[in-house]
Amino acid sequence: MTALPLRSMLFIPGDSDKKLAKVKDCGADAVILDLEDAVAHANKAAARVKVADFLKATHPARRPMQYWVRVNPFDTPHTLDDLVAVMAGAPDGIFQPKTNDPEDVRRLSHYLDALEAAHGLERGHVKIIPVATETAIAPFTLGRFASAGLSRLLGLTWGAEDLAAAVGASTNVDASGQWDFTYRMVRSMCLLAAHAAGVQALDTLYVDFRDEEGLRASCRIARAQGFTGRIAIHPAQVAAINESFMPSPAEVEHARRVLEAFAASPGAGTVGLDGKMIDIPHRKQAEKLLAQAAAFGAR
Ligand code: COA
Ligand code: MG
Repeated sequence: MTALPLRSMLFIPGDSDKKLAKVKDCGADAVILDLEDAVAHANKAAARVKVADFLKATHPARRPMQYWVRVNPFDTPHTLDDLVAVMAGAPDGIFQPKTNDPEDVRRLSHYLDALEAAHGLERGHVKIIPVATETAIAPFTLGRFASAGLSRLLGLTWGAEDLAAAVGASTNVDASGQWDFTYRMVRSMCLLAAHAAGVQALDTLYVDFRDEEGLRASCRIARAQGFTGRIAIHPAQVAAINESFMPSPAEVEHARRVLEAFAASPGAGTVGLDGKMIDIPHRKQAEKLLAQAAAFGAR
C-alpha cells in the first residue's frame, strides 16, 4: 500500500448545497463530489461551478478529509470542462467513471499534468481512481493496470449498474438477490487487478442505505476477501464502513505476535505460532495490517 488507505469514500451530488454542507461532519476518509450520474443534464454546468467553488473554499492542507471529484466520462462532451473547472480548486483526486482500459487513465493523467502546471500544483498531486468495470471491454483490460506505470493510480473500484446497462441486462442480481455471476466475476477481477497493481481495492456501494446490519455484514466479507475500503452513498453508512475496514484489536495483536515470532528466529522463512505454520506471506500480511492500523490510529 503506497498511500494512506481510504476506508470510506462518500458520494455527494455536486449540485446540492444542502448535501455539500454536510461534508465537514460526515466522517468519511474522502468525499467524492459528483458531476456525473447524480447530476441531471440540465444541472451539469451549475454543478461544475458549485464544486469548483467548494474546493477553492478550503486549501488542501486544511481539509477535514480528502476531496475527490467524479468527472463525466470521455464519451461525453463534459470531461475537459469539468477538469478545467475543478483543477483550479486543487482536488485530492479524480474519480474516473466508465474507463475502458488503463489508456483512458493515462489520458486523464496527461490532462492532469497540464492542469497541475497551469495552477502551480505539484506534479502528481492529484490521484486517480477509475471505476474500472463499467463498460463491456473494461474487465478484459484489468490485468494491464499492473504494468501500466500509472503513478497517479491510488486504487481501483468497480460498479454494477453501468455494466448492466452496457450489456443490455434487465437485472444485475440473481434469484437470491446476490450479484449475478457476471458482476461477481468482475468484482473479483477488480480485486485481483488492484492487488496486482499494488493499489487500494475499493468495493462498490451498498444500495440499501437504511440497512446498517446488512452493510456491516457485507463489509466484513469484503474486507476478509481483500478489499481495503468501500464507496458510501449516504452519511449514515460512513461509520459502519470505517469501522468494518479498520483492523480489529485482535487482528493487530495477532499481527504483532507474527512479527515477534519471526524476530525471535532471525533468518527463518517459516516459524510456528500457536501450533500453526506461518511463512513469508503471513509476515507480509502482518506488516500490511500494522501499517494500516497505525495510519488509521493517527487520524
Ligand atoms: N451526502 C450528503 N448529505 C446527504 C447524502 C449524501 N450523499 N445523502 C443524504 N444526505 C443528507 C440529506 O440531505 C438529509 O439531510 P437533512 O437531514 O438536512 O434533510 C439527510 O442526509 C438524510 O437523508 P435521507 O432523507 O435519509 O436521504 P435522502 O432521501 O435525502 O437521499 C439519496 C437519498 C440516495 C438521494 C442520497 O443519499 C444521495 O444523494 N446519495 C448520493 C447519491 C450519489 O451521489 N450517487 C452517485 C454515485 S452512485
Ligand atoms: Mg454510473
